[in-house]
Amino acid sequence: LVAALTPQTLAGKRLLITAGPTYEAIDPVRGITNRSSGKMGFAIARAAREAGAQVTLVAGPVNLTTPHGVSRLNVTSARDMLTAVQAQVDAADLFIATAAVADWRPANAADQKIKKDGSGQVPELAFVENPDILATVAHSPRAQSGALYCVGFAAESQDLLANAQTKRARKQVPLLVGNIGPQTFGLDDNALLLVDAHGHTELPRADKLTLARQLVAEVARRLAA
Ligand code: CTP
Ligand code: CA
Repeated sequence: LVAALTPQTLAGKRLLITAGPTYEAIDPVRGITNRSSGKMGFAIARAAREAGAQVTLVAGPVNLTTPHGVSRLNVTSARDMLTAVQAQVDAADLFIATAAVADWRPANAADQKIKKDGSGQVPELAFVENPDILATVAHSPRAQSGALYCVGFAAESQDLLANAQTKRARKQVPLLVGNIGPQTFGLDDNALLLVDAHGHTELPRADKLTLARQLVAEVARRLAA
């Protein structure tokens, strides 16, 4: 019913979207991750589907129901997420990266559980940088030619506008969306800052599905332009 009442602004468009955190193993029972409920990404996937898009959602470990009509691929680590994205991206018109990808992973995940030896000694962990999924996609020839429209998100704890502008330029995406804090992790409400080459606008505080629908309408306008 909702889809029947929603303007089909993304009819015929194929959206690939990442959502949720990634999880990087230290050993079979421990790992590092980022804070992300995945709610914003899942809401965007749902809103895009309602607007007529064919949606593929690449999701890190989250406890959320797949939106109706959305095709979902579950992944764990950043490298899994990149592999899944690369397998799907050639078929997409639009790529939206909402995932909170872990920036680093342990350099050598242990095959067996690391045991305390009772001496109080702590393990020394070394990290390596994970691939930047959004930058990899946004730097591809299809994205650079405009055949693939890329949207990034920015998680910042301070100086949102300045950091978002720098990030937009560094990732080479036409549109970067910042979460207007202070703390929206896991909450149902959010507010968004949209940063593009011309400036910035705000989508004021609302529930994530409302914001997702507004963002989808905005992205559809840009795709059509
Ligand atoms: N991103 C990604 N792959 C990564 C890191 C980030 O695809 N390895 C994407 C996120 O999904 C988001 C955007 O890049 O759309 C910005 O992520 P963010 O963590 O805010 O920026 P970083 O470039 O990782 O910089 P930092 O964490 O230092 O602020
Ligand atoms: Ca990061």
